[in-house]
Amino acid sequence: MNANEVRKKYLDFMKEKGHAVLTPAPLVLEDDPTTLFTGSGMQPLLPYLLGKTHPDGKRLTDSQPCMRLQDIEDVGDPRHTTVFEMLGNWSLGDYFKEEQIRNFFEFLTVEVGLKPEKIFVTCFIGDDKYGIPRDTQAAEIWQKVFAEVGIEAKVADIGSADDGKKRGIKDGERIFFYDDKENWWSRGGGIETTPIGDPCGPDSEVFYDFGEENQDEVKFGKAHPASDGARFMEIGNQVFMQYRRLEDGSFEELANKNVDFGGGLERITAASLDSYDVFRISLLKPIIEKIEKLTGKKYESNTSEMRIIADHLRGAYLLAAQGLVPANKQQGYALRRLMRRAILKALNLGIEQDFLPEVLPVIAENYESLPAEILTHRDQVLGILAKEEKAFRQTIRKGVKELNKLKEAGLTGAELFKLQDTYGFPLELSVEEAYRQDIELSKDWRKEFDAALAEQRERSKTASKGMFKGGLEDHGEQTVKYHTAAHLLLAAMQKLIDENIDQKGANITSERMRFDFGFDKKLEAEEIAKLENQVNAWIEADLPVTNAEFDKAYARDVLKAHGQFWERYPEKVTVYTIGDEKDPVSREICGGPHVARTGELGRFKIVKEESSARGVRRIKAILENA
Ligand code: ALA
Repeated sequence: MNANEVRKKYLDFMKEKGHAVLTPAPLVLEDDPTTLFTGSGMQPLLPYLLGKTHPDGKRLTDSQPCMRLQDIEDVGDPRHTTVFEMLGNWSLGDYFKEEQIRNFFEFLTVEVGLKPEKIFVTCFIGDDKYGIPRDTQAAEIWQKVFAEVGIEAKVADIGSADDGKKRGIKDGERIFFYDDKENWWSRGGGIETTPIGDPCGPDSEVFYDFGEENQDEVKFGKAHPASDGARFMEIGNQVFMQYRRLEDGSFEELANKNVDFGGGLERITAASLDSYDVFRISLLKPIIEKIEKLTGKKYESNTSEMRIIADHLRGAYLLAAQGLVPANKQQGYALRRLMRRAILKALNLGIEQDFLPEVLPVIAENYESLPAEILTHRDQVLGILAKEEKAFRQTIRKGVKELNKLKEAGLTGAELFKLQDTYGFPLELSVEEAYRQDIELSKDWRKEFDAALAEQRERSKTASKGMFKGGLEDHGEQTVKYHTAAHLLLAAMQKLIDENIDQKGANITSERMRFDFGFDKKLEAEEIAKLENQVNAWIEADLPVTNAEFDKAYARDVLKAHGQFWERYPEKVTVYTIGDEKDPVSREICGGPHVARTGELGRFKIVKEESSARGVRRIKAILENA
């Protein structure tokens, strides 16, 4: 079956079962500043899962394009992709576990035609600390459902995925209990990290068994549903949203229990072909075939590279088709990064000329059936991305030219670093080119390169420290308190006034702060009061202030840290977090120093708000009793 057929069958099936078919949301959600991209089907529906009435009723379904940039490094294996479609269905206080499990099982075995004996499932083992019971209910429903097709499904406790590596599974076992790392769902992950106020609950995951022979036990340990390795692949997750997390960290049972189901379109399609490699399905295979044709190379001998190219260009297509353009920040940067990685991998395979005009039409053809409401810029994609490809190849050519100027005496690691640092010519390309032209590399080039990189990091760290020191009069205790308060103020403005507000400058002494921010209207008295209340609430909550080093791209794209000088930051940046690591109040790139807990700050008071320059406002604020 091809993916377009599986999608259609699913939506038709759910419609038949009384669900309204929704138009999916775009990959970039306009009114959700918490994430760069839509990462699951439930995300656009969050208000309804929290109790708001949905105009289309209590049974909903869609197929939601999703992007998980955090998986980018895993792409290359047989099953990870950055973009995918999540088949979703929801019950908003309507049906619960039994109907959900029956429907999904029927869809898989009757509509898609998977053999029931290839299906394995998992349930939540329970959590004593929070008084959440073991999900025997779900397991019993599964046993009934399997018994109806003549399968006696035995139940087994695994616990953690690591325990499973040693234990493996025994004959007849089909329903497995795992801890919260595997079978608890919240937007923050496990039970401890469930965000306050969010809906959450135990889940029951469904896996397809590709056969014992596909498990590399030496590398991954014994196979069990949640193990790494190619034997089992998760194809769907049924979240039973029974709880909501309260301020004090405990869990309250919801009066209206919801179901949030998400299934991987690509993975279910792969299971329908009994192929553990998702790149063999209709949405990806034609891209791979095109690359094979352009390179004259076989997929079987270049799986990792060809998967990366296919995945990244598909992602780039979907983003650009929704109106995103390559840029140096945020979502636009993600698009640029996908493109560049794909072009570099293609170069490795010998594609030196523009190839997007050849590949993009193949991708576009696959997506003709997606609703026009989300692919609003279909016709512009080729133009925009081809231009980006040209520009990047230009950078590459320039790099090769510079490399050729240096090559006579061989190349040192310091020179390779300069090519990367000054001309944006990536190290892997220099090495490749040196190899191709038979240019000698100095014996210790790798060490020299690393040393030059470390030296540059040190330099820019000092520079960034100096830059921040500019805002602070000294590092005395009072000044440091004001510095932390300035982070809280910015976070409060972004939360309450406008998420796009950024800091334009700060001047902080032991007696007051002056804080400049980009905004073009005077703040109302009411807004000022709200800001003060918010900052004071965070101070009273006595939140921890922590810091850690991260790669710049990770800090920006995954942690979504706030930063003023992305272009100037070094590759490694220090990120200061205030509040819970998983759901922080504030996260900024900063050289410090800061207090350890916000409780030290006393009472925050804004004493003045005025214009500072065109489009820039200035706040003066003090801390009382600090
Ligand atoms: N929201 C659930 C998930 O992402 C279905 O797995």
